[in-house]
Amino acid sequence: MKIESHYELSDLIKPEETFCKKANIQNNDLYEKANHNRLDFWEEQANQLNWDQPWDSVLDWKKPNAKWFVNGKLNAATNCLDRHLTTHRKHKTAIIWESETGQKQTLTYDQLHKKVCQLANYLSQTLGIKKGDRITLYMPLTPELAISVLACARIGAIHSVVFAGFSANSLQDRLNDSESKCIITTDIAVRRGSEINLKEIVDEALEKATSVKDVIIHKRTNKTINWVSNRDHNFDEAINQSSTTHKPESMDSEDPLFILYTSGTTGKPKGIIHTTGGYLTHAQYSTKVVFDIKDDDLYWCTADIGWITGHTYLVYGPLLNGATVFMYEGTPDYPNAGIFWDLIERYSISIFYTAPTAIRAFMKSGESIPKQYNLSSLRLLGSVGEPINPEAWNWYYTHIGQKKCPIVDTWWQTETGGIMITTLPGLHDMKPGSAGKPLPGIQAQCLQDDGTTIHSGGGLLSLTEPWPSMARGIWGDQERFNEVYWSKFETYFAGDGAVKDKDDYFTVIGRVDDVLNVAGHRIGTMEVESSLVDCPKVAEAAVVGIEDTIKGQAIIAFVILKEGISESANLEQELKQFVATKISPIAKPKTIIITPDLPKTRSGKIMRRLLKQAANNETLGDTTSLANPQIMEKIKQLIK
Ligand code: WT7
Repeated sequence: MKIESHYELSDLIKPEETFCKKANIQNNDLYEKANHNRLDFWEEQANQLNWDQPWDSVLDWKKPNAKWFVNGKLNAATNCLDRHLTTHRKHKTAIIWESETGQKQTLTYDQLHKKVCQLANYLSQTLGIKKGDRITLYMPLTPELAISVLACARIGAIHSVVFAGFSANSLQDRLNDSESKCIITTDIAVRRGSEINLKEIVDEALEKATSVKDVIIHKRTNKTINWVSNRDHNFDEAINQSSTTHKPESMDSEDPLFILYTSGTTGKPKGIIHTTGGYLTHAQYSTKVVFDIKDDDLYWCTADIGWITGHTYLVYGPLLNGATVFMYEGTPDYPNAGIFWDLIERYSISIFYTAPTAIRAFMKSGESIPKQYNLSSLRLLGSVGEPINPEAWNWYYTHIGQKKCPIVDTWWQTETGGIMITTLPGLHDMKPGSAGKPLPGIQAQCLQDDGTTIHSGGGLLSLTEPWPSMARGIWGDQERFNEVYWSKFETYFAGDGAVKDKDDYFTVIGRVDDVLNVAGHRIGTMEVESSLVDCPKVAEAAVVGIEDTIKGQAIIAFVILKEGISESANLEQELKQFVATKISPIAKPKTIIITPDLPKTRSGKIMRRLLKQAANNETLGDTTSLANPQIMEKIKQLIK
């Protein structure tokens, strides 16, 4: 059965001419090169890195196992740091950091390099950690986390960053699955004004994680914390006692660089494996072409390093390009809803990359807030993590970008390692709500259930040729990797539904598991949600299907109202009618439930699976990956 699209995208929006004239990409040459010879194209991108030893062949592909730049050797940390030290970038700022408590730190490439070498020496010489060993990093978003990531890469240890919002239990599972030898953490993390004792969580996790022999603690306060002698080490002392010169490990292109656990929205977390040469090639290339990075930019990606976005576009991609990165340890709504705009004004940030969930939260509190700040330093905006509905896109474009900044809506996944689909900022016209085209070197298609290609219309999104930064597997579970991504089609199955239009733009309409099936029509959740959010009274919406004896499924909509809007007698009718008119009577929700909040993962994605279970009166599945588990009780009451 085909996925339908009733969704009408507004006109194309042209990027500003002043932007286009200076853009890194101004014509179709890269597309032409890549289409002419894909492997030559990727080889050219790989050549932008420093290799210790060249590769014998570009690609060895036996589905689903890829080897890119076979027998090539390089080190990730030297590519991010050392090679800039012989250029004008030696004393250029690499990282500018601020925390919600107002702490600040700035590191030049030279300073960052020294610290990374020191930690690398400590890890390898003092603790005896070797190439291929796993190290878990459980830290808030501080420069020390970036230093730790790069120090692991320098000695060839595989890093596994676990977002510091995860519980002791989740941390324990990830430590055990990766059999980490060492964990680097901090005494505390600060979040919305309260302190979280990370070291206590680590101690609890370590009760049943016996592979860990050493714990390094970055102490941010003078608080006395539990200290296990012979196991616990002080981060600053470790750095200070070690040499600032270090000989990096020369890694095979296919040696794992990191594992990153993704729970997605269902099931046991998967330890996605990324390797060195291919991942870095795509990280460097995609950052340059998509974010149009230049030497005088100040680039801010709001994601935590605990997610793939933070790996590729806060650490590796920008540093490979010698950029200056802004890092902020804090949330968009604390101490007030203007904090992000305040930071942009104070630091003159020029490139800003965030998630639709944050944009919708900004919309909810109204445009009067960003209006109070000077945002004129911005020149490019980005979005990632979920489909961005046209309403939110236009708000972002108008009130943050002042209609002069192009928006790159970037579709990708933990598994793809880097951006796959987007518009290139100085080259393409934008369509609010649609991600755009596959990057040069990337091939995507919409497929029917039987694997046939849909040239125009809705289908299942598949990446049809291997690419350098593709996941190489799931740690310890190759069978699951084959099954989840490679068994449905001959090509990579992304798990998303999408519509490809006549201009070859892809509009992602949500996870296939969430797709609605009403009276034989398969409709993406995003279309219905987007039409609800289009209603001026609605801030956010999530829709799920419940069993319906006649239609197969009927739609239930959970809706958060904008600030200052209260429930009224005819609101439900009004919203239903709104969807019917906007999309089609088929998509009209059967019930509208007004709720103060929606269940979200820690990375801000709505967990429709739980809403669906609640709406169908089923017992709720795993809620451990929720950032706000208490909301499910409230929602259950609202359904009754
Ligand atoms: C899933 C991947 C991509 C890095 C952060 C999330 C959804 C992501 C978009 C976008 C529509 C998007 C997809 C995808 N998604 N970006 N621009 N438009 N949907 O990584 O946690 O692995 O999630 O996020 O459903 O499959 P992730």
